[in-house]
Amino acid sequence: MGRLIETEQGFGGFNGMFTLAEMDRGSNAYCEIFRDTTGKPLVQIAADILREKGQLRVLDAGCGTGRAIYTLREDVARQTGLPQAAIDVTGINDVDYRGKSKMVEVRRAAASGSLRYIVQDLDIADLSADHYDLITSVEVLIYNGYEKAARIVHKLTSAMAPGGKMFMTLKSRQKQHLESYMRTLQSNGFKLFERSIPPFDRVAVMVEKPAVRQEQV
Ligand SMILES: C[S@@+](CC[C@H](N)C(=O)[O-])C[C@H]1O[C@@H](n2cnc3c(N)ncnc32)[C@H](O)[C@@H]1O
Repeated sequence: MGRLIETEQGFGGFNGMFTLAEMDRGSNAYCEIFRDTTGKPLVQIAADILREKGQLRVLDAGCGTGRAIYTLREDVARQTGLPQAAIDVTGINDVDYRGKSKMVEVRRAAASGSLRYIVQDLDIADLSADHYDLITSVEVLIYNGYEKAARIVHKLTSAMAPGGKMFMTLKSRQKQHLESYMRTLQSNGFKLFERSIPPFDRVAVMVEKPAVRQEQV
């Protein structure tokens, strides 16, 4: 587990130094980064899954304060008219930033446990296979070395439910490092889309797992 260090520059753990603005983003910020090939933003994609399945299981891998999943749950419930209870959200973060959100509701939800917030390094997290309909990982893997980031991507891919979607940001060199794994995924029926995010050295990658379970990779 990481250690929280608060300095004048920002908040830091073993993986880097962040300002509050970089770890307390809401679902609107995630929607600016993540759209599908038709331009549909993340919240609408999540709403579609919920309407289709009647439930939605979301994992935010590297959730910062937990604000994005808190607001995603609210937005999706509002858009669909379905109860928040149908939306199960989990955030995992290696450093405990629960009390740090600017939104008092997020702080309260994380403290009370109504927002499931697990303090753990993703590299050692024990995730159920084939479980999550939606996984997000925004500006997280970039703070991890090539091999560790690759292990985490494997783990997250395995945790996706059949038909589930994962959105993550990577550095372009990390993406290159994962090229052969990505090709294996494609040959196993996964769909992959990517978009570079100028002016940064970032690639937003979307992975869609086949609805019918195929050979595990
Ligand atoms: C720049 S912040 C982004 C937070 C949030 N995703 C957002 O966009 O607002 C990066 C976060 O990833 C977490 N992180 C980085 N590597 C991690 C790892 N291996 N396991 C768990 N959390 C990690 C950091 O503690 C930090 O909270």
